[in-house]
Amino acid sequence: SAAEKGGYDYFMLKEIAEQPKAVADTLLGRIDGSGALHLDEVRIAPSVLREVDKVVVVACGTAYHAGMIAKYAIEHWTRLPCETELASEFRYRDPILDQRTLVIAISQSGETMDTLMALRHAREQGAKVLAICNTNGSTIPRESDAVLYTHAGPEVAVASTKAFLTQLVACYLVALYLGQTRGTKWGDEIRTVVRQLSEVPGHVERVLETMEPVRALARSLAHKNTVLFLGRHVGYPVALEGALKLKELAYMHAEGFAAGELKHGPIALIEDDLPVVVVVPSPRGRSVLHEKIVSNIQEIRARGARTIVIAEEGDEAVVPYADHLIWIPAAPTLLQPLVATVPLQVFACELATARGNEVDQPRNLAKSVTVE
Ligand code: AGP
Repeated sequence: SAAEKGGYDYFMLKEIAEQPKAVADTLLGRIDGSGALHLDEVRIAPSVLREVDKVVVVACGTAYHAGMIAKYAIEHWTRLPCETELASEFRYRDPILDQRTLVIAISQSGETMDTLMALRHAREQGAKVLAICNTNGSTIPRESDAVLYTHAGPEVAVASTKAFLTQLVACYLVALYLGQTRGTKWGDEIRTVVRQLSEVPGHVERVLETMEPVRALARSLAHKNTVLFLGRHVGYPVALEGALKLKELAYMHAEGFAAGELKHGPIALIEDDLPVVVVVPSPRGRSVLHEKIVSNIQEIRARGARTIVIAEEGDEAVVPYADHLIWIPAAPTLLQPLVATVPLQVFACELATARGNEVDQPRNLAKSVTVE
């Protein structure tokens, strides 16, 4: 009913709008007054966490994209090797796992069969499994050694939005907690990131207030057949997520690429007026990547692409090459996906509406996939 949707036309719109609160709720109670992390609810003994020599993240779909971003955060903050793998592929390749492996299983529903089978396989090999889950008491947390719940609240729309942002927050918290426990990350650095995380709800709010041009752009592209997405570093999984949203909601051919791969093949796809969304990293910090992506934008535009550029406010370097600009507030590199994903959700939702599709229940899909 309309009341259930809180006055929005679709659950998806309501859930997109709830993201600032979902992020704040997922941080709540996990940080003390001094800015240190308290994740005692993760009941894996610190002595066990100190012995971990490898982290493996398993998940499907959108949760897998969160896991891809987790790899960057975990390796950066803990210096532990981390691999992220599609849960559906994991157990079929005889992965190397033992008592010193920490497996993180990410799932909104907690009922995804592929993810469940992956974690069962991991536990059979002696690995410790930590679930990141949004549904209290569901199967995946019940079968795991420990769980860190995301506090997104119930997600009804098939297309995952607020659960994704909170999965990212949970992954950052786990990465920092591992760093804190193992002594690879120290108090001040953790406090800095925690403070930056606490600014994210405000950033997301600001993004949501500036989405009208994104919706207008989406409507103007409703007749297109293909949209490509490019990103680098943590912007690459964001590109994949933007493409997945468009596939499931708009039923369009959408593909995400690592921008560095363009010249190894995908650039051949560029033709006149093809919409290409580019997620640009912050010009501060990793400026090498920023320069490289700016030249990618020039390259594709010279070949006729219609460039839709998501960039940090004040990033003047992209302006001459952007046919459409979507500004996002400045965030540290690793946290940028929390703000950069939001316009892509709005874009896909509006395209679905413009194409007359059922937003909350796309064809052929189920909210949780309980078969392998
Ligand atoms: C996301 O928009 C999808 N509907 C889908 O990819 C989903 O993320 C995937 O099926 C995993 O679900 P889970 O998080 O409940 O395990």
